[in-house]
Amino acid sequence: MTKLFEVVPNTDPYQSKNETQCRRCAIVGNSGNLKYSSYGAKIDSHDFVMRMNRATTSGFEKDVGNKSTHYFMYPESAHHLPPGVHFVLIPFKPLDMEWIVSALTTGNIKFTYVRVVSKIHLDQDKVMILNPAFLKYIHDNWTNHHGKYPSTGMIAILFALHICEEVSVFGFGADRKGSWHHYWENNKHAGAFQKTGVHDAKFEMEIIRKLVEEGKITFYNETNVKY
Ligand code: C5P
Repeated sequence: MTKLFEVVPNTDPYQSKNETQCRRCAIVGNSGNLKYSSYGAKIDSHDFVMRMNRATTSGFEKDVGNKSTHYFMYPESAHHLPPGVHFVLIPFKPLDMEWIVSALTTGNIKFTYVRVVSKIHLDQDKVMILNPAFLKYIHDNWTNHHGKYPSTGMIAILFALHICEEVSVFGFGADRKGSWHHYWENNKHAGAFQKTGVHDAKFEMEIIRKLVEEGKITFYNETNVKY
């Protein structure tokens, strides 16, 4: 931990709340239901735009926007980020904390259970590490041990609920044809997210439904979509 905080900031930028500020946040999941949605401008109108894993905006701006303030990733999904964008590391395992130190310094760690990016190019001042206790809190109190651990998207939504006054959720769930692919994939049967077997997609959608019902989040689905 000492090594870790020599390399990344050890302050929490969101600890104190500005009572006069209304922080509006868009959480953008990777669902194929974003395709043809034309949600890009609406997404970009938020103060924070949080994306995850391998999400790319290039070529998909009309549907997903091009503003990004936060990327939620773990070593196996990590990629370089432009300056000014926060990298929120989700440490699913202890090695992930060693990896971020290595990726920002020596580049020694090249493999976890797959090859990972050994040297990452991003704004070192913008790196944030989710406290593993927060992950346990989600697993215990929200996903209730459904799935091996919560999905990146579920974690991002709960993070946002803690630091944003308004939370808008885009790109979660299947498309209206029942496919769970990513918006950049052409293979509608890929079902990447649901098929991993690691997360309980149905249970997580139920949590999202309840949050919508209670007025805690706004959920954008496919109403705009014309096939
Ligand atoms: O597949 P990946 O984990 O990179 O996608 C990011 C997040 O977007 C997932 O963790 C999940 O919460 C959400 N997602 C979804 N429906 C999909 C694809 C992704 O809800 N079809």
